[in-house]
Amino acid sequence: MQIEKTVAGVKAQVKAWKKEGLSIGLVPTMGYLHEGHKSLIDRAVAENDRVVVSIFVNPIQFGPTEDLESYPRDLNADSLLCEKAGAALIFAPEPSEMYGEDFTTFVDMSGVTGELCGKSRPIHFRGVCTVVNKLFNIAMPDRAYFGQKDAQQLAVIRRMVRNLNMNLEIVGCPIIREADGLAKSSRNTYLSAEERQAALVLSRAIKTGQAMVQAGEKDGEKVLAAMRQLISEEPLARIDYVEMVKWDTIEIHHRVDCPVLVAIAVFIGKTRLIDNFIQEQTI
Ligand code: PAJ
Repeated sequence: MQIEKTVAGVKAQVKAWKKEGLSIGLVPTMGYLHEGHKSLIDRAVAENDRVVVSIFVNPIQFGPTEDLESYPRDLNADSLLCEKAGAALIFAPEPSEMYGEDFTTFVDMSGVTGELCGKSRPIHFRGVCTVVNKLFNIAMPDRAYFGQKDAQQLAVIRRMVRNLNMNLEIVGCPIIREADGLAKSSRNTYLSAEERQAALVLSRAIKTGQAMVQAGEKDGEKVLAAMRQLISEEPLARIDYVEMVKWDTIEIHHRVDCPVLVAIAVFIGKTRLIDNFIQEQTI
């Protein structure tokens, strides 16, 4: 497995693979890889001849008060995981390699970014779309893999690819959880033992909401109220949002009469965690 720090290095390798007629899968990440990331890499390895994993803590998707500086990093452990999983190349650039002094071009999207994380983190998706667009241009993948853990991000990337006629397929992958239900996240490392226990309130709320919907509850207000109530009983938890939206457009929609995404963001102490479920079929 190769580790490349430069755009030119990745482009040269990718062009050589393309010449040989090999298909390329891309897994964009910010590193500190866990089983959730690994599930994306495994799927990419199964479906492509060569897999590129990008590891880049993208400064332009973090707000001024967010955790850019403290975001966990461990390239050695990440390299081992990628190699074991069968990735062919890691792209791990420095910020200066991605954003030169003349950098002034951004991919900005309206509509699908107005609610949920887009509302709480106003510049977030502009940074995500811009860096993902760059990664697509650098790695030229046939397929790129994204987790449903960041459901709005998946919807945003799908729309960007459609709107801008990009030549690749976006593959969405299910949420990977710890044995006790907590969705795996690089940010779980911020949690103290007490907070780790309190964080279970997210997956419990998701389970509660999902069970109500699957039992036939169509009234979104009722589902969200039950979830909010459950979370408010945990003293270490503070709700950022608990919402139901249309899955394809990410517009607020409190009726289970079309595919819906129920998404939550909750602060446990200082750590902001997210979780969600998608109800594709109306029952
Ligand atoms: P990061 O948070 O590192 O996540 C990289 C990918 O792994 C995302 O597609 C995310 O949804 C997926 N992922 C994370 N935890 C998961 C879990 N528990 N189960 C399944 N998939 C999971 O998302 C980003 O990085 C960045 O915004 C990025 C797209 C790389 C752009 O900078």
